[in-house]
Amino acid sequence: MDLAQAQALWDPHPGWLNTASYGLPPRPAFEDLQRVLTDWRTGRTDWKPWDTATDRARTAFATLTGVAATDVAVGATVSQMLSPLAACLPPGARVVAATEEFTSNLFPWAASADLHTAPLDHLAEAIDSRTRVVAFSLVQSADGRQAPLQDILTAARDHDTLVVADATQACGWLPVQAAHFDILVCAAYKWLMAPRGATYGYLSARARRHMRPIAANWYAGADPGGSFYGPPLRLAEGARAFDLSPAWFSQIGAAGSIDLLNRIGVTTVHAHNTALAARFLTALDQPPTGSAIVTVEAPDARRRLEAAGIRTAVRAGKIRASFHLYTTVDDVDRAVEALTR
Ligand SMILES: Cc1ncc(COP(=O)(O)O)c(C=O)c1O
Repeated sequence: MDLAQAQALWDPHPGWLNTASYGLPPRPAFEDLQRVLTDWRTGRTDWKPWDTATDRARTAFATLTGVAATDVAVGATVSQMLSPLAACLPPGARVVAATEEFTSNLFPWAASADLHTAPLDHLAEAIDSRTRVVAFSLVQSADGRQAPLQDILTAARDHDTLVVADATQACGWLPVQAAHFDILVCAAYKWLMAPRGATYGYLSARARRHMRPIAANWYAGADPGGSFYGPPLRLAEGARAFDLSPAWFSQIGAAGSIDLLNRIGVTTVHAHNTALAARFLTALDQPPTGSAIVTVEAPDARRRLEAAGIRTAVRAGKIRASFHLYTTVDDVDRAVEALTR
């Protein structure tokens, strides 16, 4: 499917430059969800047909990130997906994370381990032989900066440190190979354009050896349908042992959106998004950054954008604008005009 065909599947109200807050669903996924919501409202079906979306979404996420579906767990939020590692680290374990990090990849470590933070650009230097885990986002939520990946991966390999990457602001526009990391976690309600409530985690076999399924439940059972009642504990092999019982409606929206992303191709989305971000920055006399999330400072920016109907976010006093496959040149030019007029 080419980009123009894909774009016809979205109906954004002009001026949505805020996918870093939440992404907009494609029409087919939205319509699937409406059908199921009607079934729910009227009790027309069993829940089991809804549940098939969960494995579809898991498989689509595995395809998107180049790993086996047996290494992908489904859950609800980033912090929840990280907790079975954070809570099971030995007492006093040293974890290193970026100071600027979104707290869902910071608080789980702070709550359970000896957390040290360092600025993202110096994260690699903070990894030493005592460091059990290094945690960071591939793309920073506040300003779209990309992590210095090679430095971090090299330092982690040298010190036998587990690498935990949050790809919430990356998967869906930036090509990502999950197998470069021990854990890669992604909330699906932004660039994967799902309803909130679906999160996927690539949990490598190496990482799983350090984790306990602290939220073990029937759905994580080897045979979920045979795990409703009674002992013994009988969990699935692989990452599925860390599944949460799924938020059905979120999984239905996620399955349709991630499938579609795979058909369009992330490299196509990457080219489109970064070209729009570059157009925006260049028009404002700033150098392109290669990210789909950018920040700008301009006098009275927030009021001017709001008056022009452009929806962005404000982070650390700057305007954060983000560009996805349904963003148009017209959206960008309207924002530039509002800021420069
Ligand atoms: C980098 C990053 N990670 C995670 C999240 C959301 O985390 P959670 O799913 O724990 O709410 C966000 C939301 O803005 C984010 O930007």
